Amino acid sequence: MLTDISERKRHEDQITQALSESRALSKRLEEAHNQLLQSEKLAAIGQLAAGVAHELNNPIGFVHSNLGTLGEYTAALIEICDAYTTLIEDQHPDCPQLEQIRRIKELQDYNFLRADIFPLLEESREGLNRVRKIVQDLRDFSRAGKHDWDFADLHKGLDSTLNILANELKYKCTVRKAYGSIPEVRCAISQINQVFMNLLINAAQAIETTGEIVISSGIEEPGQVWISIRDNGQGIPPEHLNRIFEPFFTTKPVGVGTGLGLSLVFGIISRHKGRIDVSSTPGQGTEFRIVLPIDPPEAPANDAPHAPEAS
Ligand SMILES: Nc1ncnc2c1ncn2[C@@H]1O[C@H](COP(=O)(O)OP(=O)(O)OP(=O)(O)O)[C@@H](O)[C@H]1O
Ligand SMILES: [Mg+2]
Repeated sequence: MLTDISERKRHEDQITQALSESRALSKRLEEAHNQLLQSEKLAAIGQLAAGVAHELNNPIGFVHSNLGTLGEYTAALIEICDAYTTLIEDQHPDCPQLEQIRRIKELQDYNFLRADIFPLLEESREGLNRVRKIVQDLRDFSRAGKHDWDFADLHKGLDSTLNILANELKYKCTVRKAYGSIPEVRCAISQINQVFMNLLINAAQAIETTGEIVISSGIEEPGQVWISIRDNGQGIPPEHLNRIFEPFFTTKPVGVGTGLGLSLVFGIISRHKGRIDVSSTPGQGTEFRIVLPIDPPEAPANDAPHAPEAS
C-alpha cells in the first residue's frame, strides 16, 4: 500500500518554520523587554541621582564657604595668641602665670596644633572639592547641559583628548588611529570630549602591562556617524555587561574608580540622541561603539536615557 505523504510533509515543514519564526520572535521580544527594563532602571537611577545631587549641593556650598572663613578666623586667633605670648615673654618674663601658660601649651601640644591646623583645613577643602566633582558628575549624568551646541570635528576632539592623556597612555599602550571620513557633527563638544576621555581612560586601565587602543570612525548610515574605541585589555565578564553604565558600578579598587565614568558617557550620548554599544571578550578586549546623529535636535532638559546594547 502506498500513501502520498508529501502533503503531510509540507504541513510539517510549515509548522516547523512557523515554530522557529515564533521562537525568534519571542527571543526578540525578550531582548526588547530586557532593554526596556534596563532603560527604565537607568532613567530611575538618573532621577534619583539628580535628586541626591541637588540636595547635596547646598550643604556642600556652605561647608566649603565656612571652611574658608574658619581658616581666616584661625589665622586671626593665632596672631592674637602670638601677640600675647610675645608681650608677656618680653615685658613680664617674671610673671607667675607665665609658667602655667607654658604648661598648658605643652599639654595641648600647641606648636603641633599651630602647624597642623592649616594643612588640615586645606585637606578638608580638597576632600570637599572631590565630593563637589562627584555631585557635578551625577548632575551631568541626569541633566541636560545646554551649553556650546555647535557643529564640531570629532577627530579634533579625539586628538585633543589624546594630547591631554598622552602621559597616562604612553607607557602602557600604543594608540592606533583609523579615522574614516566623517562630516562635522552638531554636538556639545566639551561633553563629547568627556565621553572620549572616560572611554580612553577605561581602555588604558583595562590594559595590565602593554597593549593597543584602536580608535576608528566612519559613516553608520546617512545622517549618522560612528566612533569606536577598542582595546586589547582584560575585557568585561558577561555578568557585568549590563551593569557597567550604572552610577557607582566599579570593579576598580577604592581610590582608582568611582564608577561614574560610563554613567556620564551614557547620559551625554543619550542627550545627543545617539547610542553606545559595547562588546567584550574576557581576556581579549573590549570595544565601545558610539553612533551619533549628525544634526540632532538640541537636548531638552531631563531627557530619559535609553538602554545601550551589550553583546
Ligand atoms: N575598556 C574596558 N575594559 C574592561 N572593563 C571596563 C572597560 N570599561 C569599563 N569597564 C568596566 O566597567 C566598570 C565601570 O566603568 P566606569 O568608567 O563607569 O567606572 P570606573 O572606571 O570603575 O571608575 P571612574 O570612571 O569613575 O574612574 C569598570 O570598573 C570596569 O570594570
Ligand atoms: Mg572609568
